[in-house]
Amino acid sequence: MEYQNILHQIQSELPYQKAIGKVASYIPELEKVPKDKFAMHLYCLKSGHYHIGSHEEKFSIQSISKVFSLSLAMSLIGDDIFKRLDVEPSGDPFNSLVQLEHEEGIPRNPFINAGALVISDILLSKLKHPKEELLAFISGISNIPTINIDNDVFESEKKHSYRNASLLNLMKSFGNIENDIEEVLDFYTYQCAIEMSCKELSSAFAIYANEGKKPTTSIALIPPSKIKRINAIMQTCGFYDEAGEFSFRVGLPGKSGVGGGIVAIHPGQYTVAVWSPPLNPKGNSELGMYALERLTTLTGLSIF
Ligand code: DON
Repeated sequence: MEYQNILHQIQSELPYQKAIGKVASYIPELEKVPKDKFAMHLYCLKSGHYHIGSHEEKFSIQSISKVFSLSLAMSLIGDDIFKRLDVEPSGDPFNSLVQLEHEEGIPRNPFINAGALVISDILLSKLKHPKEELLAFISGISNIPTINIDNDVFESEKKHSYRNASLLNLMKSFGNIENDIEEVLDFYTYQCAIEMSCKELSSAFAIYANEGKKPTTSIALIPPSKIKRINAIMQTCGFYDEAGEFSFRVGLPGKSGVGGGIVAIHPGQYTVAVWSPPLNPKGNSELGMYALERLTTLTGLSIF
């Protein structure tokens, strides 16, 4: 497959796309990121790496981190996590409170903020050093020696966590949060402030495309049965109230973040990460979705 030529073709089409998205502003530090940043990195399991744009530049991965925290929680307590949250698409914005009220504090899935906060609570209860252990987990699955956070983004979001604090309070009132609310908020906000490049994300996600194994190794770090479930949740819930649209246009499991990043995987074939900060009204990267739609169209490789 001529991946490099296809990526160049996508890059040549970008200037003709209307830039209607807006960079996230509810985390003030994210608003400082230049709108015109763009990167795409594809890691083919068989033939290696292809890229365009600033593929080694780190950015705030935000909700993409929810895939890593879910994976760690599943490896610690297995199916018990599903006593605390569900696996249904929410059809509501990522930070919505409404369903929690009449669904007794049980979030619809682990990728909306409510669900990711429950996962943070589980990790806080189970791990001695949750921050260090989460970073070590990501480093372990990706072969990246050190994973860092952007401290300015971390502090900036902490000062504006009104909605996440509300979600935690509501869930705590239903008995679905064990730890102190401030501690859960701190840990969750920390994981969202992880910074990685498209190159690093495409490597970190390789195990999800390769039955839980790092490429060129034979031992599964996450059992294939769990990878199947995590990928299924990415497919159905990875883009919140735009999960249907992403499936329809791109046709791959994936996960977005309000930093403008999107990672998608084609099991057995490739992983791809794209970064463009302006977001559409659903909080997903406008050009990122376009680039991925063009990728699966031009390669003819989606899961459908
Ligand atoms: O909790 C928040 O609102 C952010 N730290 C993460 C949200 C996010 O990335 C939604 N994704 N598109």
